[in-house]
Amino acid sequence: MIPLCIPEVRSNEWKYIKECLDTNWVSSVGSYVNKFEEDFAKYVDARTAVVTMNGTAALELALRTLGVGEGDEVIVSSMTFISPVNTIKYVGAEPIFVDVCNDTWVMDADKIEELITPKTKAILPVHIYGHPADMDKIMKIAKKYNLYVIEDSTESLGSLYNGKATGTIGHIGCYSFNGNKLITTGAGGMLVTNDEKLGKKAKYLSTQTKTVLENGAFYHEQIGYNFRMPNIVAAMGCAQLENIDEYIEAKRNHFALYNSLLKDVKGITLPVEREGIKNVNWLYSIVVEEDYYLTRDELIAKLKKNGIESRPFFMAVHKMPPYVKCKHGTMDITEELENRGINLPSSVGLTKDDIKKICEIIKQEE
Ligand SMILES: Cc1ncc(COP(=O)(O)O)c(C=O)c1O
Repeated sequence: MIPLCIPEVRSNEWKYIKECLDTNWVSSVGSYVNKFEEDFAKYVDARTAVVTMNGTAALELALRTLGVGEGDEVIVSSMTFISPVNTIKYVGAEPIFVDVCNDTWVMDADKIEELITPKTKAILPVHIYGHPADMDKIMKIAKKYNLYVIEDSTESLGSLYNGKATGTIGHIGCYSFNGNKLITTGAGGMLVTNDEKLGKKAKYLSTQTKTVLENGAFYHEQIGYNFRMPNIVAAMGCAQLENIDEYIEAKRNHFALYNSLLKDVKGITLPVEREGIKNVNWLYSIVVEEDYYLTRDELIAKLKKNGIESRPFFMAVHKMPPYVKCKHGTMDITEELENRGINLPSSVGLTKDDIKKICEIIKQEE
């Protein structure tokens, strides 16, 4: 089976994790925790990074750090993995769903303003499958209405927007190191910000708001959370980060080969890379149009029969039971894409022969 997206472990992971075991520094403080935060902040060029136990925790921490809560509304796309939407609910706020763009599949910035009310507190763009949302437009709207912007960059680590890493343009950016992500720690996440005060607050909230008094006792000024990542997990993150540029190059090469092999297939729409964007194509994805000879689900079944794992696009979150009553704008593109989009194998370790085989099966009409 050619899997959809599996981790790549190729260098110091064993060594750094063994060091944690050998020295007994396995828990939530330790040099790898600090190093992972520092190295990651440097890599994406953010002032502060706060490591968390997963990407969902990073998103919840972002909302709590910005004081989003009861009575607030947060504008988010419906074509997303459900995690960012759930975190809006965790903090007691309401998700308001906006449609996505037809070509990039991310939040349509031109449809945001019509959804803004006096309750709107934040915009949460999700850079789905790797392509960044239109951050210039989003930041302009945020400034006009005095809103926060939290970037869900869990799928776009390695993508650039006008030369800047996604996640560093809004007030806070969040990443995931789940097993299928560009770099992985098994499970893990990171929050980044260029606002030092927000960074300090995020770290404080994520560590149970713990202040150690002179006599060693713990004092807690407010309710905090345990969102910490253990040292043994951060050790893996440090090793993974050492290879990130190679991983990005591999993904970009896969993207180019897929595009060149599929460009003339009738009824298949390829992913785009808008001007000023470097798209990491975390999951290389295509859209199966009506004039393709199979439906999207028939293509998924055909690929599976040939030993290839693929996946439909995310189902629209505004139609999921917990969210059916939430407010949303027109959802034409989201509802079209959920039936037509398909993610193809995108592991860093995918070979050229794998991609040729996948494209051959997509091309062959049988
Ligand atoms: C768009 C998006 N947001 C958030 C998450 C949550 O990350 P995690 O699984 O690390 O909690 C994921 C993926 O897992 C995701 O794809």
